[in-house]
Amino acid sequence: MGLRLGVLVSGSGSNLQAIIDASEKGFIKSKICVVISNVPNVYALERAKKHNIPAIVINHKDFPSREAFDQAIVDKLKEYNIDLVVMAGFLRVITNVLLDAFPMKILNIHPALLPSFPGLHVQKKALEYGCKFAGCTVHFADNGVDTGPIIIQGIVPILDNDTEETLSKRILSVEHKIYPQAIKLYEEGRLKISGRRVLIDPPLSPDEKTFLTNPLTEL
Ligand code: GRF
Repeated sequence: MGLRLGVLVSGSGSNLQAIIDASEKGFIKSKICVVISNVPNVYALERAKKHNIPAIVINHKDFPSREAFDQAIVDKLKEYNIDLVVMAGFLRVITNVLLDAFPMKILNIHPALLPSFPGLHVQKKALEYGCKFAGCTVHFADNGVDTGPIIIQGIVPILDNDTEETLSKRILSVEHKIYPQAIKLYEEGRLKISGRRVLIDPPLSPDEKTFLTNPLTEL
């Protein structure tokens, strides 16, 4: 059963684009009904307009508090009867105002293998730490920063000659695979919460595990 998606963005919107593409080709049944950016004139808004998706700016600088900003986001999402909120490159820490309005109905993507490297500049941190694998994580949002229950992760080998740029680009490509996959699992009702764990029932089929194999052969 397709859901009405509300996507929150702050920048380029490459994850938004991946979800638009997944919806238009039928990989997911859900439809993006509104895109909201906290930053004006970002390319994510152009991507939405090109696909006739309502593209709205709610600038956090126009509000006296995080809670007031979140309330404006909630009001807009309710106006579009949104079922699932997808944060895609959305660089705001959300408050209980948004979380309480959409309990376990807010997803986020982070370009690291959580719980390692929450926050920002995470690809650089993984590289400098000397990790052999990096990756990305789709998780339920909670009132922490990048701390909610993990839905799906994609792994990316770190190469000796990687730079922050080459690694970030490779991680982003895997992000664009696991986000639509996570939304597909959600819309199919296959995500079962068990404490901090998110179990997938029925389990991922072999063809759904592409991002868990060596992603280098696919990029
Ligand atoms: C991505 O790495 C995402 O994981 C992070 O922001 C970056 C840009 O995302 N949250 P997008 O291209 O705007 O979707």
